[in-house]
Amino acid sequence: MSSDHAPTVRDLIAFYLEAGVDCALEEEPVDRLSACDGPIVPLAEASPAPARQPHDRPAAAAPRAGIAPPPEIAIESAREAARTAPSLETLRTLLDSFEGCALKFTASRLVFADGNPQARLMFVGEAPGRDEDIEGLPFVGRSGQLLNRMIAAIGLKRSDVYIANVIPWRPPGNRTPTPQETQICLPFIRRQIELVNPDVLVTLGNPSTQTLLQTREGIMKTRGKWFDYDTGARTIRAMATFHPAYLLRSPSYKRMAWLDLRAIARALGDKALEETAS
Ligand code: URA
Repeated sequence: MSSDHAPTVRDLIAFYLEAGVDCALEEEPVDRLSACDGPIVPLAEASPAPARQPHDRPAAAAPRAGIAPPPEIAIESAREAARTAPSLETLRTLLDSFEGCALKFTASRLVFADGNPQARLMFVGEAPGRDEDIEGLPFVGRSGQLLNRMIAAIGLKRSDVYIANVIPWRPPGNRTPTPQETQICLPFIRRQIELVNPDVLVTLGNPSTQTLLQTREGIMKTRGKWFDYDTGARTIRAMATFHPAYLLRSPSYKRMAWLDLRAIARALGDKALEETAS
């Protein structure tokens, strides 16, 4: 909130979103700005609020547009929607109109993907942050800039690879997505990987690795190893490496990330050699 103007309702809502507020508690809005208009009464003099009686509880919220359904229903409809998407464009359209994940209602926009849909190399992160939510593209903030340098380190450009996230909406205040939110979004990212059909899939950081490569091991154990990833149509090679945000906080691990990138480059090169030989 900038300090050179009186706070507006927009500032207040922006503050709530940043703070991670993602649901309403009362049926009626409370104007907390006008609550400051009257004289300030010392707490001791203020009359205590009447005790709330059990029957005063707000009625259970009736289903409204913009409220996500229960997780089991959302997961089932995500599976159904993702399964029917014949192309990446359709998948994006389906995701954009999907109302099964509550994160959609707090994010500014869908962050679907960036890069080349025909890429042989695909990166998958966890979830968009603030910069990505503003631009509608994955990995455009500080960690995105480091990812660009990691891609350049193996002789490729961002436009040569395909980049997406397990979760396509920014969680409020960058909180960790819940296991339910991840399960609801999983059919979509799985279909996205199947449609891109890369030769090599790289999971960035623990959450994306554990979700997509179905392991409970931490990134220190999983990174740099080859996994088989079954797209549903074929098996592709997958490798986990450190999330660029982690590398920004712990630059000493860049050396290991570099080893992972070299292995990835070799795998892409080997594949290119196999294709030339056959
Ligand atoms: N971190 C992620 O996991 N994804 C992004 O798109 C940006 C930051």
